[in-house]
Amino acid sequence: MQFEHIPHPATTSDTDREAILANPGFGTHFTDHMVTIEYTDGQGWHDAKVEPRAPIMLDPAAAVLHYAQEIFEGLKAYRHEDGSIALFRPEENARRLNASADRLAMPHVPEELFVEAIRQLIAVDGKWVPGAEGSSLYLRPFMIATEAFLGVRPAKRYKFMVIAGPAGNYFKSGAPAVSIWISSYTRAAPGGTGAAKCGGNYAASLVPTREAFARGHDQVLFLDAVEHKWVEELGGMNLFFVFDDGRVITPPLTGTILPGITRASLIQLLREEGLNVSEEPYSIDQWRTDAQSGHLLETMACGTAAVVTPVGKVAGEDGEFTIGSGGPGQLTSKIREKLVGIQRGTIADTHGWVMPI
Ligand code: PLP
Ligand code: COI
Repeated sequence: MQFEHIPHPATTSDTDREAILANPGFGTHFTDHMVTIEYTDGQGWHDAKVEPRAPIMLDPAAAVLHYAQEIFEGLKAYRHEDGSIALFRPEENARRLNASADRLAMPHVPEELFVEAIRQLIAVDGKWVPGAEGSSLYLRPFMIATEAFLGVRPAKRYKFMVIAGPAGNYFKSGAPAVSIWISSYTRAAPGGTGAAKCGGNYAASLVPTREAFARGHDQVLFLDAVEHKWVEELGGMNLFFVFDDGRVITPPLTGTILPGITRASLIQLLREEGLNVSEEPYSIDQWRTDAQSGHLLETMACGTAAVVTPVGKVAGEDGEFTIGSGGPGQLTSKIREKLVGIQRGTIADTHGWVMPI
């Protein structure tokens, strides 16, 4: 597809951009451009544009505003030491977007178009990819239902967009290990939308997240909806549990948690380290008991935004417990370095995960 390029009338100055890149935070600064592509039933995707980042026009009756027909992705572009830019497993994000689209009755974005949209954005906003270790350009592809229609049925018009912003550490606290709050709310039930990356899941997580923050924690933990016993995932991250006998457990993909791309990558990297990784249910009681007995050595949270972050403390209505020494564990630090090294091109990519652009 041909992308029409509409140049930016006033881009961010080099000085302003460099100041932002030196301390990017997460999710508050954006690059100068965005990609928009329209979809119409019967016509498919059309009118691809790279244009100045600006508010978009939406009819007040647009389906996304009423019934939350929206899905999104999150991935990062990394600056390598030679100055080149690379993406990490973008085709996996394209596949997951399409799996989310299936659940939300939305059209697929062809994988090549998804990756091309990102390439086109980076082609004009490449200066926004930071070079410092721990920084990257966070890309947010998303799709919304734009048809003006109040009946409850899948819309006939959609808009796919890509916006981006430089990213540093996701956690504001900057603590060496994060603290999490066990929510009594449920994120996703069997047969629901838990495995889709749709805005509605995150809307439902906001009250629990606010509660976690108010109690002084960094993230919220969700248990399963049926027994309220099995550990599922955090508000925006998957979990891994590391034991003293070389075993590692991560909760299985039963349809209520997001199939993280970092999760899939870590399963592979940990197995290559000789660890025995299994996807199996793990209960909150087991977690507490294993942490207290010392059988559990480490817990790691992982995701695109959070990378690999150690969990130090877990708290809930019944009290709290500490993992290991409460700080970063050995395996968490080692595997984080390995993953980040592959993403940044300092460790050989033997899996074909890195896509130079
Ligand atoms: N779980 C949830 C709810 C998330 O929002 C994310 C972040 O995207 C993840 C897990 C981790 O997924 P990934 O590793 O693909 O970023
Ligand atoms: C990501 O890691 O890409 C996410 O979407 C998680 C969100 C908490 C920012």
